[in-house]
Parts: sequence; C-alpha cells; structure tokens
Amino acid sequence: MSSEPLVRMRNITKRFGGVTALSGVDLDAHAGEVVAIVGDNGAGKSTLIKILTGVYQPTEGEIFLGDEKLEMASHSDAIDKGIDAVYQTLALADHLDPAANMFLGNELTTKFAGITMLDNKRMRAETERVLFERLGVRLKSMDAPTESLSGGQRQAVAIARAVYHEGLRVLVMDEPTAALGPQETARTLKLIETVKAQGLAVILISHSLDDVFQVSDRVHVQRRGKCVGVVKTADSNQQEVLGLIVGVEEAA
Ligand SMILES: Nc1ncnc2c1ncn2[C@@H]1O[C@H](COP(=O)(O)OP(=O)(O)OP(=O)(O)O)[C@@H](O)[C@H]1O
Ligand SMILES: [Mg+2]
Repeated sequence: MSSEPLVRMRNITKRFGGVTALSGVDLDAHAGEVVAIVGDNGAGKSTLIKILTGVYQPTEGEIFLGDEKLEMASHSDAIDKGIDAVYQTLALADHLDPAANMFLGNELTTKFAGITMLDNKRMRAETERVLFERLGVRLKSMDAPTESLSGGQRQAVAIARAVYHEGLRVLVMDEPTAALGPQETARTLKLIETVKAQGLAVILISHSLDDVFQVSDRVHVQRRGKCVGVVKTADSNQQEVLGLIVGVEEAA
C-alpha cells in the first residue's frame, strides 16, 4: 500500500432539496487497499460513492485523484478518470453471453470485404483472457447467456467489464455479496483480493461485517450522513465498528 492516498474526498456535502444526505465527509483510499464503507440504511454510503463515480455532483466539497482535482459531470467522466463501479444489480444484460456483456456499447468490430461486422471471435477471446488473467476465473461455457451463470460468475463478468478498461484505478462495489450464498460470497471476496493485489483502490460498501473484516484494510463508518470514524481493520473488531454504526449513546 502506498503512503499517499490515491483518492481524497474532502468535506463532501450533498443535499437533495431539504434532505442532507451527506455532511462534510472525508474519505481516503490508497492504491492496493480495500476501504469498506459501513453504516445503517440511509447513512449516506451509496450517495458518497455515487459522488465519487460521477453519478451525483456534490453540493459542496472536492475530490482529488492523485494530484488532480476532479470535476465530473457524469459517470462517463469518472470512467475516463479510471473510476468505475460494480453495483449489486450488476447491470448485466441477462440474455446476452459474457462477451456481449463485456463489450456492450463498446463492441469490437472487424472489416470483411469492406463491410464492418462485429468481431465476436475477438470479443470472446478477450473476455476469456480478462476473466482468467485478471480474475483467475474460467467459465465452463462462453456461449451461455449470463442469466445461466451463478451469482459469483455474474459478479466476475461485471468486474471483468470494469477492469478491462486499462486505465482503471479505483473500483467501487456497492453491496456485491448481498444476494449471494456463502460460497459465492467467498469467491467474490477472493476477486476483491485479486484486484487489490493488482494495485487498484477498492471501495466496498457492505452490511456484512464478516465480509468487511475478512477483506478490508480500513473501515469508514457513516452515520446519518456523517463519517463517525475510520478504523484500521487489523486494529479493530466487529463490536467496535458496530458501536460506531449505531452510535454509542444508542448502544448504551
Ligand atoms: N436521489 C435522492 N433524492 C432524495 N433523497 C435521497 C436521494 N438519494 C438518497 N437520498 C437520501 O439520502 C440519504 C442517504 O441515502 P443513501 O442511499 O446514500 O444511504 P445508504 O447508506 O446507501 O443506505 P442503504 O444501506 O439503505 O443502501 C437517505 O436519507 C436518502 O433518503
Ligand atoms: Mg445504499
């Protein structure tokens, strides 16, 4: 893990009309680090990462990537900067095979006799390569629609799509294991460790403290729109983090 944070969110405030979803939040993430964001429903976790991924613009506050101050008007601006997200819903087209999902909207083409056609062979080979080389995943069949894959495999396809972008530096995951069984969860946590080892900064929103304590380096705790603490995972425990999540006064 490097000493300077790759991502610095500073004094982020977000108001939706009269609702203050976030108030003066700071968040750091280093390359090669997994930062977990935890907190109760409505604590502002998703809003915070939607700001980091360009989906929302902050009412106040600044975001830096390395030395660069980011001004993002949309999610595609964030992707251009190397920040992408995998959501719980994964946004996969279920009826399409993994390669079609990997290249959805960015299809590779080839020219034959002057006619531009989809290069299905190369898209499939690239998908197989990225799944295996970056994530260590081999699918039994590359022809099956993604709806026939397991939850963990679908997760892998969604992550592969994000990491296929060579400039990817920050990967955000919002509740990636929420809909998964224990085995699929374990596989997804392994994928997180794999991309972390490749030097990405990973930001993981999770309600599962088991997952958080297994895979994160630091835990950022949100309560009612504010950051109420950041702990080093190795120096903390679930009870301490739970205390921060619910608030000491409420826990007592
Ligand atoms: N688009 C929006 N318009 C109005 N209010 C919003 C909007 N998005 C979020 N909020 C409000 O902001 C607050 C934080 O919501 P957010 O979705 O960030 O919480 P969360 O921590 O991700 O919760 P959960 O664990 O339930 O996913 C909530 O009070 C929510 O109602
Ligand atoms: Mg949320």
